[in-house]
Amino acid sequence: MAEEIAQNEQKNPYLPFGDRQDAPFYGKDILSVKQFTRQDLEYIFGVAHEMREMVQRVGSFDLLKGKILANLFYEPSTRTSSSFTSAMERLGGSLIPINEVHYSSVAKGESLPDTVRTLECYADVIVLRHPEVGASELAARYANKPIINAGDGIGEHPTQALLDLFTIYEELGDPDGLVITMLGDLKYGRTVHSLARLLSLYDVQINYVSPDILKIPEGIFAEVEEKGVPQTENSTLEPVLQDTDVLYVTRVQKERFEDPSDYDSVKSAFIITSDSLSIAKDKMIILHPLPRVGEISMEVDDDPRAAYFRQMEYGLYVRMALLAMVLGKS
Ligand code: CP
Repeated sequence: MAEEIAQNEQKNPYLPFGDRQDAPFYGKDILSVKQFTRQDLEYIFGVAHEMREMVQRVGSFDLLKGKILANLFYEPSTRTSSSFTSAMERLGGSLIPINEVHYSSVAKGESLPDTVRTLECYADVIVLRHPEVGASELAARYANKPIINAGDGIGEHPTQALLDLFTIYEELGDPDGLVITMLGDLKYGRTVHSLARLLSLYDVQINYVSPDILKIPEGIFAEVEEKGVPQTENSTLEPVLQDTDVLYVTRVQKERFEDPSDYDSVKSAFIITSDSLSIAKDKMIILHPLPRVGEISMEVDDDPRAAYFRQMEYGLYVRMALLAMVLGKS
């Protein structure tokens, strides 16, 4: 722990009065799910659960009063951006929103390192979404304040994976023993890359279902295999749906395709309907990081197993927990 505190002090030498230097994740960047142990996850979800209870009881409270978050988004976002905004405001802090970088000095050609070094003069933590893999790591090398990766191209989306796993814990309990089936665009979907890595810390089975051109990247499959997690790759859902406890559906990411005809060939490959769920367990959940563009029919929304709207709310509590933790208040 002493070593961890020393590392934190290196990252943020000016420890503000009242912050807990010994708090886990104090001053840390959140860049990849690879940085978490199972013990870390249990701690984060414990804090997130407390945040949920506090929001339900009092709505908002002043844990982060005086703290400022810079939300720096180079790619569109509804959920991640607004849930971090809500998280900061519910914790009594405030916000610098840069959700449209074309109106910032980025439009004049300012580099990412210069932009984050600017924002950290005014903010205590920076949430960054960027189209390039590794952008958050680059930003973290230049920033002294914590950087939270809110999605780096087709790389990772660690806070999404944390909220996905928190949803599983809250809805189904401990993930050990569960069968998780990931469906759709597994090649470009950064949320599945992060979630598969996180799940490899558990005793689960993972099924991947995708068109041939959108298979899970070999590197991620190999990483998960190395942890001893059984995985299957499939081109249809039916053979694995009956045993599935968590069906994780993803959008085919049109914006990542170089050839539009490739997108057209797979855009409607899978559509979940009430009929297709007739063979699924009664006690299972359907998740989706959202937005959806037709891969889950709207008729499914009324099925109690459809947990994707509840999943968004769980994201608020996880992001409240992360902000409190990196700012030394939990
Ligand atoms: N799940 C997710 O990242 O959604 P947004 O793109 O709306 O932030």
